[in-house]
Order: sequence, then C-alpha cells, then structure tokens
Amino acid sequence: MSAPEWEMLDDIPSNSPIWKQWQKLVNDENWTSDCSATTGLTPTLSTTRSVWAVDKKDSSYIGCVVWNEYDSIALIGFYLLAPAYRKMGIGSKLWKRAIERIPKDYTIALRSVPAMIPRYSSQTTPVKGPTLHYCTVKASEAVELCNKFLPADFESGYSTTKLEDLSHEEWEEFLKFDRKITGKDRREWLAAYRSHEHKFAIVVFSKNDHSIVCYASTVMTSHLHQHRYKIAPIYAIDDSLGLCSLRTLANWIGSQYSGATIYCHLMEGTRGFEFLKPKLEQIANFTISGTTLFSKPYNNPLDLSKVYLPNNSSGHYDI
Ligand SMILES: CC(C)(COP(=O)(O)OP(=O)(O)OC[C@H]1O[C@@H](n2cnc3c(N)ncnc32)[C@H](O)[C@@H]1OP(=O)(O)O)[C@@H](O)C(=O)NCCC(=O)NCCS
Repeated sequence: MSAPEWEMLDDIPSNSPIWKQWQKLVNDENWTSDCSATTGLTPTLSTTRSVWAVDKKDSSYIGCVVWNEYDSIALIGFYLLAPAYRKMGIGSKLWKRAIERIPKDYTIALRSVPAMIPRYSSQTTPVKGPTLHYCTVKASEAVELCNKFLPADFESGYSTTKLEDLSHEEWEEFLKFDRKITGKDRREWLAAYRSHEHKFAIVVFSKNDHSIVCYASTVMTSHLHQHRYKIAPIYAIDDSLGLCSLRTLANWIGSQYSGATIYCHLMEGTRGFEFLKPKLEQIANFTISGTTLFSKPYNNPLDLSKVYLPNNSSGHYDI
C-alpha cells in the first residue's frame, strides 16, 4: 500500500470523531495499562497536547502523538499509527512535530514497549527509568490469595467510602493524601476520574481519627466486552492495607463478572513490587509490559514506599 494523501493537525477539539477512532485503536492494540479512563478523559484534560495525521479525503485517523504537559514534564502517552499506515515515514514526521512543540526545558517521559526501547533510547529519551511487570489473575484467585495473608478481623479498625461518595471535606483531605504520595497536584485528573463510569474507587479511613490510610481503584481496560480490569492505583500506608484493598477491589470485580480478568501492573522500586509480586507469583506469571524512559535524569517525587500498584496511565503521571 502506498502512503495516502494526508495532513497534519495540532490539538483537535475534545469532541472530534478522530478521538473515537484513536480510542478504538488503543483498545485493539490491547494496551492494558491504558484504561477506559485514560482514553475517555485524555481528550478533555487541559494538559493534553496532540499531533495527528489524518487522511485528506475523509479526515479519518492515520496516526498520532498524544502527550500531557505539567510540572515541567511532557509525558508522551500515545504514539500510534493505524496498522495499514505503519513504516511509511508518517510516524517519524508526527514525532518530529511533537518534539518541536514541547517546551525545551521540559523533561520528556514515555513508557516504551520492549521492542521500541533501543529506538527511543538512541533518540529522544536516553535515560532509563523503572520497568513495569504485569500479571493477570481471576477475581476469585486474588481474593483467595489475600485471605491467606490477612487476619479475618482486619477490616474492623477501618471504614471505606467510595470516591464519589466523599463529603466536601473528605474530598479535600483525599486530594492532600494523593498529593503527599504522588508529589503532584492531580486535582483535575481525579475530579474527572471521580465521575468516570467504568471504575470502582475506594478511600479507606482509620476509625481512630478518620485519617485517610489508603486509596485504591480498579477500572475497565480494553474493549468492554472483554471484561478486563486494571488495578490502578493502590496507595496505602502499610502492607496489610495494600492487600486488604486489593481484596476489596477483586471482590467487586468478581461481583461484576465472575470470569473477569484482573491486570496487575507492578513497578520496579515500589513497595508493591517487593511485597505483592512474590505473593502474586504463587498464582500467576509476570511479563514485562514496558519501561519508562526520560530525556534527562528525572527525580520522581512519588513516595515509592506507599505505592502498591501505580496509577500508571497518561494524563495522571506517577511512573
Ligand atoms: C511505532 C510507530 C508509531 C512508528 O510509526 P511509523 O510511521 O511506522 O514509523 P516510521 O515509518 O516513520 O519509522 C521508520 C523507522 O523509524 C523508527 N522510529 C519511528 N519513530 C521513532 C521514534 N520516535 N524514535 C525512534 N525511532 C523511531 C521506526 O521504528 C522505524 O524503524 P525500523 O524501520 O527499524 O522499524 C508505528 O509503527 C506504530 O504505531 N507501531 C505500533 C504501536 C507502537 O508500538 N507504538 C509505540 C509504543 S511505545
């Protein structure tokens, strides 16, 4: 196939049908770390930037680079061409335009699939960051695993509230908790996520002083009919709360669809990688899903000791 007549566009509106074609392609690619919230909310975030190749005939999707700019970081979340248009030199042109537009003093970050690491490393992002390892489990298996390590009465000292049910004061406290762990102001992302449909998100409070001790969420990823859920994130102040919230999420996923698949993406250097991975390895095999690369050394403010599973998507950077 020869290259079509195409044109390049910057920053299309959030209601453009091109975003819908992009969402479908991300799901077709089976990039399970990119959930329905990422693909659903990215078009609307104030931090989102994008470059597109579209067919001159009918403005249909050919390819894109999509990134988010904040805190002097440009996180490139998507570099993706429709399969029929790959290897024609179009992607490289989009990439060049995207890099031109990113402020020169920003740190460029991206999460590379294994096959692209040598290519990205030789050009834009030579500095290697952490690698993500993922496994899949069924809900019942995850619940059983957590039950092995958690005392039966563990939850009695805590109360749990769904993200969307937090009072105004609790919401503000929650934003502080998130900021303390991520080192970032994620208010815009979290406010949008709060009303996202295909998720289950909980905030756990200590009954002693009503302080927040854990935030955990699961969200649909890939096409809806595939019944895949990604755990993202689990931030907790200790191991038992990390496990307990995983059990709560798995129970909810099982109640939605008993055959659902749970994707656990664990990041090197986090407490979850040290504590949860050996436990999950008892019931599942891990595969490398990607490595974070940077254009220059980057000091991530994330409190790794409280991260059991990272949020790990574009637009709400914690990797
Ligand atoms: C990766 C992708 C976006 C590149 O677009 P493309 O139009 O096919 O690329 P081009 O024809 O312009 O590239 C020519 C060559 O430069 C490489 N290249 C393209 N963009 C590059 C970049 N940003 N950095 C380094 N190398 C790059 C290509 O891999 C290719 O190398 P090869 O011939 O050795 O395979 C496209 O192939 C694609 O959508 N692949 C599947 C999705 C994917 O893997 N995305 C990256 C996720 S991290």
